[in-house]
Amino acid sequence: MSIVFNPDSRLFVLSTKNSEYQMKIDEIGILLHLYYGAPVGGMDMSYRLWHVDRGFSGNPYEYQEERGKSLDTLPQEFTGANVGDLRISSLSIRGANGSRSCDLRYKSHEILQGKYKLDGLPYVRGENGTLAVEEDAQSLIITLEDALIGFEVKLLYGVFEKKDVITRSVIMTNRGKDYVRVNKISSVCIDFPYGRYDLIHFHGRHCMERQMERVPVKHDIISIQSKRGMSSHHHNPFVILCDEDTNQTQGNAYGFMMMYSGNHKTEVEKDFTDSTRLVMGLQNSNFAWRLEAGDSVTAPEVIMTYSAEGLNALSSNYHHTIRENVVDAKYYNLERPVLINNWEATYFDFNTEKILQIADNAKEIGIDMLVLDDGWFGKRESDHTSLGDWFVNEEKLQGGLKVLADGVRERGMKFGLWFEPEMISEDSDLFRSHPDWAMTDPERKPMISRSQMVLDMSRKDVQDYLFERMSEIIRDADIYYVKWDFNRSVSNFYSKELPSDRQGEVAHRFILGTYALLDRLLKEFPNLMIEGCAGGGGRFDAGMLFYCPQIWCSDDTDPIARLRIQEGTSYGYPVSTVGSHVSASPNHQTGRSTSLKTRGIVAMSGTFGYELDLTKVSEEEKELMKQQIKDFRKYYWLIQHGEYYRLTDDREQNYFTAWEYVNAEATEALVNIVITDSHANPELPYVKLHGLDPEGWYMIEGGDRKYKGAALMNGGFVFGMLIENMMKEPDNYPSEMYHFVKIG
Ligand code: DGJ
Repeated sequence: MSIVFNPDSRLFVLSTKNSEYQMKIDEIGILLHLYYGAPVGGMDMSYRLWHVDRGFSGNPYEYQEERGKSLDTLPQEFTGANVGDLRISSLSIRGANGSRSCDLRYKSHEILQGKYKLDGLPYVRGENGTLAVEEDAQSLIITLEDALIGFEVKLLYGVFEKKDVITRSVIMTNRGKDYVRVNKISSVCIDFPYGRYDLIHFHGRHCMERQMERVPVKHDIISIQSKRGMSSHHHNPFVILCDEDTNQTQGNAYGFMMMYSGNHKTEVEKDFTDSTRLVMGLQNSNFAWRLEAGDSVTAPEVIMTYSAEGLNALSSNYHHTIRENVVDAKYYNLERPVLINNWEATYFDFNTEKILQIADNAKEIGIDMLVLDDGWFGKRESDHTSLGDWFVNEEKLQGGLKVLADGVRERGMKFGLWFEPEMISEDSDLFRSHPDWAMTDPERKPMISRSQMVLDMSRKDVQDYLFERMSEIIRDADIYYVKWDFNRSVSNFYSKELPSDRQGEVAHRFILGTYALLDRLLKEFPNLMIEGCAGGGGRFDAGMLFYCPQIWCSDDTDPIARLRIQEGTSYGYPVSTVGSHVSASPNHQTGRSTSLKTRGIVAMSGTFGYELDLTKVSEEEKELMKQQIKDFRKYYWLIQHGEYYRLTDDREQNYFTAWEYVNAEATEALVNIVITDSHANPELPYVKLHGLDPEGWYMIEGGDRKYKGAALMNGGFVFGMLIENMMKEPDNYPSEMYHFVKIG
């Protein structure tokens, strides 16, 4: 049993293979958080609580004679508000009488077999029969309430024993008679009463997403958030809390990943007792949800994991969970198509003939799918117009989309198409006929970005229109794949359909509307494959991955810049979800020139494809591309399902980046290196490999030396040949991929 409740000690113990999580109901019904970390054998960890009377930390009424027991210092599983805990809180509410107080006490709990599901929100899947890898998950639902006002908070836990994962979500219900306004809702609150921590988070910008940053947690509040209506390029909804000395291979690390694609916030506070609290949930500056009697609101799910063996192991837990329990199981054993996308090849300037020329070349080198990007609809000659007018532009695509799609299929490839469903151009027939569908404030000029506005996805009529337009096109042209783009931050959150006191719900309803549309389309077209995208990786989150098996990782296709973006992404997300393409050199975003080989090696750490004008590449380049595609297919399962290890660490300030994949049996490993900075007379790049059989013997395919697994892992591997070649023939960013095969 991974969930045990002891009625005598009122202790909850949630166990996974390598972690334990404890909560306890105290004498007056406060749900204490006792412990999260390496297994402690079920020992009641309340011995660590020391009730010191600290000045200015008052007591619940029942504890007035026990001054050491204050909500301000007790570690809590989920806080109320305005009743004595003056640290960051898990919720904020306002009752009809204006009171903002909420005093939560334990009411009941239930333990269920299988994993709970959420209605209208993505969740980690746990029902056997629908999973790629079967697993017996269990759920715990604890109900807390403020009995005075009838406010109920259900805490949901899903325990995935083998994956070392615990999921959390929260449902708030108004069981009182009057309405209640929820001004803040969190999915997770967790207290670490002891220890010194670093916070790792992933910030960025368009074309430079998920840059790993590590900061010490000091006596203040760190806040990582997005108010952009999207999970954002700027702050990924994923953080790691770890010991100060944790590195890739050792030390305690705790991950918190929100399965959500909209506004989110994570706060981390180290308080006056040196206790660290993390709260993760919906960003609340634009949030206010009105609950009439009987109504509920749900906080998105957070995937928590713990590793005692550093950051690589923490990432591995996420990689398995996302591949096996978040992404639709049908993609687990399905080899994804190697694609050619026309965006960086043609931008808006294409017609049927041009695309078919690209298709001819794509076929020749062995590509599986052609994706037609932006510009095929309405009067879309530039990014100033036509979003929302999802009708084929027959001036560009003579004879319609089907002619082109059939042409691509005749060449033996699948056909994919770009949409940007949630957007509307001011210059569009859709806006002219439905101005109220754009999300704008009444009488105020809207914020325009990339010449576009955002559709009010909270409206059913908007969802219906998009469903109908997209379905018709997908059906008529028999489309296999959709690239689902989203190219601006959201502002002017306002729905003309909602009353004034519900406008604070729009940002969340917007995302619920997007999820509803995704869900509906996937039910209508169960074989449709959707690749998420938001100006590259602006919505690279586990929420989108519930619907889309892969996401375009960044609009920056420069392989050297991509190394950092993909490395940052790898902390939480598996390679099988990372859309990555070989593009032209010099690169369109950075102007940097790199070899086709290096571009190939970096793009192969993803779902792999090309995004350049294949009619303009030389025969020699085509030959290399053919080989790259063959290599990618050869290593496909090793790359997509292998254990992934970062061999270099940002903190070491190397002049190279190296990473490794090892299959489950440890019979094969693929070791990649890219030199990222040119040094004359350079040091020899050196790494220690991971995951091999220490007793086994390995050879590099094509080489003649034997290496013992233990030697490669403890004594390391030197990239001597790469440096020797580089010194003979200087090359800016040389790279290599070494295939180690176990021979005995
Ligand atoms: C942003 C995407 O990330 C690009 O790949 C491309 O699809 C453009 N939008 C098209 O407008």
